[in-house]
Amino acid sequence: MKEHWNKIYASKEVSRLGWYEEIPTSSIKLLSHCNINKDEPILDIGSGSTTLIDYLIKQRFKNIIAVDISAIALIKLRQRLGKEKASLIKWIIDDITQPVQIQKLHDIAIWHDRALFHFLLEDSQREMYLFTLKKVVKKGGYVIIAVFSLRGAKKCSGLSIKNYDQNMLAEFLGEGFKLLEYFDYTYYMPLGDSKPYTYTLFRREK
Ligand SMILES: C[S@@+](CC[C@H](N)C(=O)[O-])C[C@H]1O[C@@H](n2cnc3c(N)ncnc32)[C@H](O)[C@@H]1O
Repeated sequence: MKEHWNKIYASKEVSRLGWYEEIPTSSIKLLSHCNINKDEPILDIGSGSTTLIDYLIKQRFKNIIAVDISAIALIKLRQRLGKEKASLIKWIIDDITQPVQIQKLHDIAIWHDRALFHFLLEDSQREMYLFTLKKVVKKGGYVIIAVFSLRGAKKCSGLSIKNYDQNMLAEFLGEGFKLLEYFDYTYYMPLGDSKPYTYTLFRREK
């Protein structure tokens, strides 16, 4: 997986990737419902080279953690941000299905995942994802998960994915997580291809 993703990020300009967003509007919309302090930790899992990090810096969040399996994706993001802004971020290269560094985190106020979870096809991978999420997200913290919806594509970047709706994600997270918001959002790529996503926002009970 690591090689797969490194190859993709090495071979294309970030703005030509199928999931690139100039402005991550839907994530921003859900983040606006999260009531946290600017110095609380926000974890973006499977960050890639997302512009969400630029947005969070601009909003003056002070404890941003970007995690990805691909070192190249994170290097590209660091380069775009420049030295000064990049130094504000905690960078973690890790695999959510075999987490080492991620497991050491705690008191995460927002767990944000856009388009990583749907790649986890094995029960054991999803179990590890959930185990880790529960270990690091604080009680009262928020979980944002965006995946290809049931109407969405069955593959992304050459890999099979699993499609979800909000009920399936609620069932996956299980008791202790309340679904606060959800919506379907179709992202149109510059060349016109459409990518239907489901966005969800949960809150972990206190
Ligand atoms: C479709 S991209 C989405 C990137 C970013 N979230 C965005 O919205 O622009 C999926 C990302 O998940 C990362 N990824 C895939 N499998 C992973 C894993 N097991 N652990 C951590 N990151 C992973 C990939 O390297 C890639 O950057």
